[in-house]
Amino acid sequence: MKLVNGFDLVAYAKKNGYVLPAFNTTNLEMTYAIANGLMEANLPGYIQISSNNLRLSNPYVIAMIAKDAVKKSEIPIGLHLDHGKSFEDVKACVDAGFTSIMIDMSHLPFEENIRESKRAAEYCHFYGIPVEVELGALRGKEEDIVNEGECKTDPDMVAEYVSKTECDLLAVSVGNVHGLCLNPQIDIPLLEKINQISKVPLVLHGGSGISKEIIWEAKKHGLIKINYGSDLRKEFIGTFGEAYETNHNEHDVIHLSIDAVNHVANKAKELVMMINEH
Ligand code: G3H
Ligand code: ZN
Repeated sequence: MKLVNGFDLVAYAKKNGYVLPAFNTTNLEMTYAIANGLMEANLPGYIQISSNNLRLSNPYVIAMIAKDAVKKSEIPIGLHLDHGKSFEDVKACVDAGFTSIMIDMSHLPFEENIRESKRAAEYCHFYGIPVEVELGALRGKEEDIVNEGECKTDPDMVAEYVSKTECDLLAVSVGNVHGLCLNPQIDIPLLEKINQISKVPLVLHGGSGISKEIIWEAKKHGLIKINYGSDLRKEFIGTFGEAYETNHNEHDVIHLSIDAVNHVANKAKELVMMINEH
């Protein structure tokens, strides 16, 4: 199968009652592992890469690897830009063949956030690609960016924000945290309130560490997409770390890379099955 357009992926998830995981890739191995995990589970989702990671992985190269990784897939998989930090990154990813985009201007004041998000949405919509935006800010560590403060999404701003940005998905801050934080306190009543106001489906970032019960509850309140980064990175790094701990002269990169792909794939499979158990 080809990489699937983000609008079609969301429509497929809604029709079949799925929550879509979006798994962060970093490189070739992680990209194949994520595709393998989704294919083994036979459940849909996204491969995603963050703006920060584009310093390491050119969007054209990631798109090429992702296209190859999903070619045997029988379930829909999209390629998403995560935390798009500039219009240039958005443009580069659309031009490279990404099928879904996030522009993250949540650090800016409200009006500027709207202006920059809308600019990205206009460009993406011209090419038939959906756009995720973020209102509020998450605490924690996303790639190498650390945010100490948390600013929960203000429900009173949601209607204006969604309508003015012309977004297709809304990422919210409701107690979710970036990084390896076990059982973050997700404010389900706030999520419910936001969902009653938002005319677009909701996204939770910081999926690693959120319990399945909370995700199933969030699913009742507009959750369509949940992002996982740290859980997969831990599997990848752990494979090499453990081998080094056992033998400081370990140098079998090929076998360790194959092991790392399998470990990341298993984790992706476990997570996509877990969120869709109910
Ligand atoms: O955008 C990516 C994520 O929100 C990943 O968060 O590392 O806590 O799973 P996580
Ligand atoms: Zn995130």
